[in-house]
Amino acid sequence: MKQAIFVTAVGTEVGKTLVAAILCGQLRMRGERVCALKPIASGFSFDDPASDPALLLRALGRAASPEAIASITPWRLAAPLAPDRAAALEGRSIALGEVVGFCHNIMNNNECDYVIIEGAGGVMSPFAAGCTMLDLARMLGCPALLVTGSYLGAISHTLTALRALASESVVLLGVIVSESAASVGLAETAAAIRQYTAVPVLELPRLAPGVEPWRQAPELARPLLESRGTRL
Ligand SMILES: Nc1ncnc2c1ncn2[C@@H]1O[C@H](COP(=O)(O)OP(=O)(O)OP(=O)(O)O)[C@@H](O)[C@H]1O
Ligand SMILES: [Mg+2]
Repeated sequence: MKQAIFVTAVGTEVGKTLVAAILCGQLRMRGERVCALKPIASGFSFDDPASDPALLLRALGRAASPEAIASITPWRLAAPLAPDRAAALEGRSIALGEVVGFCHNIMNNNECDYVIIEGAGGVMSPFAAGCTMLDLARMLGCPALLVTGSYLGAISHTLTALRALASESVVLLGVIVSESAASVGLAETAAAIRQYTAVPVLELPRLAPGVEPWRQAPELARPLLESRGTRL
């Protein structure tokens, strides 16, 4: 494996799956072998053709069969809640060490050049007793990519998330600003964030439905992989 990337965000529904799918598609177009994982998905249903694992499998050129989904998303929870609460409703709990072990297994199996791992929710979304996605990022030990939006308030959310990642010495490859439906300005938001970080801050404009996102998006994979990552 050349590189694993943990895709996290300032919150839920910001664009992690979209960005992860774009990275998968763009890396595959360069001939790389790519794996994508969404270890924990809440609000999940096998019937949903647009579930996160289904979208990631599509970006990998694979059919979204139940077996394929189960192989990239072992922790599937029905309730559209933070994973710890969704798990509790099913009488289950999620153990940090098991999630880390699952990801490390794929990172070490030599079947992929790149392993793209999508988190759940935001940088500090809880998923196990006393554990947030930040603990997972730290324990995975791979660089992170922070996805944010261009909505009003996104700059503060982004800077707060950057501080949180820095507090655990997580290496950051870059920030992707995915243009929000209610945007106060993509270029302006990205420019403001650039004043506070040395990592690449890339702009992802609103994409149209219908065309595969990795074909219409600007190049994200190359600048991120050229980024050596910064421990802020
Ligand atoms: N730049 C964009 N252009 C078009 N649609 C976008 C863009 N960014 C995000 N979206 C849309 O916003 C919605 C939420 O994005 P996405 O599912 O990628 O978020 P997420 O961070 O993965 O959410 P979750 O926390 O549920 O995993 C999706 O319908 C996605 O297609
Ligand atoms: Mg997602």
